[in-house]
Amino acid sequence: MPQRAVVEAPNPFREGLRMKQSPEPCVMVIFGATGDLTHRKLLPALYNLALEHPLPAGFSVVGFARRPYSDEEFRKQALDSVNQFSRQKPVNQQVWESFASGIHYLQSNFHDPEGYERLAALLNKLDQERGTSGNRIFYLSTPPSQYPTIIQNLGAAGLNRNRKGWTRVIVEKPFGHDLASARELNRQIGKVFKEEQIYRIDHYLGKETVQNIQVFRLANGIFEPVWNRRYVDHVQITAAENIGIEGRGGYYEESGAIRDMIQNHMLQLLTLVAMEPPIAFEANAVRNEKVKVLQALQPIVGQDVLTNTIRAQYGPGYVGGQPVKGYLEETGVSPTSTTETYVALKLFIDNWRWAGVPFYLRTGKHLPKRVTEIAIQFKQPPLMLFKRQDSQSQVEPNVLTLRIQPDEGISLKFGAKVPGTDMQIRSVNMDFFYGSSFVRQQPEAYERLLLDSMLGDSTLFTRRDEVEAAWAFVQGILDEWASGDVPIHTYESGTWGPQAADEFIWRDGFRWRRP
Ligand code: BG6
Repeated sequence: MPQRAVVEAPNPFREGLRMKQSPEPCVMVIFGATGDLTHRKLLPALYNLALEHPLPAGFSVVGFARRPYSDEEFRKQALDSVNQFSRQKPVNQQVWESFASGIHYLQSNFHDPEGYERLAALLNKLDQERGTSGNRIFYLSTPPSQYPTIIQNLGAAGLNRNRKGWTRVIVEKPFGHDLASARELNRQIGKVFKEEQIYRIDHYLGKETVQNIQVFRLANGIFEPVWNRRYVDHVQITAAENIGIEGRGGYYEESGAIRDMIQNHMLQLLTLVAMEPPIAFEANAVRNEKVKVLQALQPIVGQDVLTNTIRAQYGPGYVGGQPVKGYLEETGVSPTSTTETYVALKLFIDNWRWAGVPFYLRTGKHLPKRVTEIAIQFKQPPLMLFKRQDSQSQVEPNVLTLRIQPDEGISLKFGAKVPGTDMQIRSVNMDFFYGSSFVRQQPEAYERLLLDSMLGDSTLFTRRDEVEAAWAFVQGILDEWASGDVPIHTYESGTWGPQAADEFIWRDGFRWRRP
């Protein structure tokens, strides 16, 4: 029989960012340019984009902040950022020089209208000199209390739209402190920018492995048919960190794990796992489906908060063999603080696909290791044929694990017969590792997101209704916690959280995974 030629389709993961077209020349104005995020993430990400060529010639950066730097001094800071935090090292001198020639600095207070006039003049000058054609992105990387001031001033200076090119604004997290403040922030930004100009960032969406959740589900024929309440027993989503609050006491005291991780990153992971297939892989179609998941979350309010959530704080202990302080001894933390560094919760999605399937979410700092994963445990077969023949056989349920970080990959646990004349069954894993299947380095989340913002693709950014729906869910828990009736447990640093969290899941007949 004649063999059919096999034509390999292009592989989006192997191609990585090369699949993306180049954006038009533009200027990125970074408010809060001397801050930590700019230093650790934004400048190194932009440099890596320049290195891998999706950045157009003429691309420019304007750092806008209060410290008195010259262009030269800011460029030196930027080089320091790239030297320390770039994914690709050592720095390529030629690429750096061309990238650095487009870096500028503007010193101003955020509330000073005159600073925005100087900004407008600088942007016009860059349009002339570097061919940026009026295309602008304003990146808000300041403390969130400054967002309204910056937005109003951009509007007052007429920088919110431009007859010549496009204008976009990227808003960093935290987006609001609760439902009311998130709504208010949306209202204030919405007065100055149209929704399609607003890019609310959640860096988890820029992670390759997070994007792969959709590919795994929707580009393969065999998983989607079992991705529902008929086959799935329960789901565990874990975001464990071994680090503590890393000197961010002031921020963390106001935030806690539920605002820092659950409201955004973890609910985003949940939406991607649980959403219906969108009608197209396009920003609004995808986000429509994600919003529906958030809207279908069964509210956790009143007494349910007591039974469906656990909050806890780390005490002293050992992480990675090193002694570490308890949360209450951290700098900037009140000795009587009740801010949680660990949260576990059980939630349900009230829709046809997921009704009755528990989703367990947990996140914490100073846990034994850094690992983010989504584990989908399937129901057992209807009849245990092998049980009676050998009582030693352990027929464990199938578990599909999507490992977001580190050791990125996917693994499926299933039972296999141990070789021999008797019938023993043992669980084995079928593993896929990104590192061994794709030799290419993965781009950093910020690289992907910054590039998408330049291309005008907001699929991986959160929409107004999405952010508000996530806050609406979290608000019920926050209100009950504030009432003081829900205990705050402690756990020893370097352990997997409080005993109460183990008991919480045992009650349902499950155990937390030990990833
Ligand atoms: C940030 C939180 O948004 O995400 C941090 O503010 C947290 O507290 C971090 O450590 C985790 O991100 P990643 O990419 O390291 O998992």
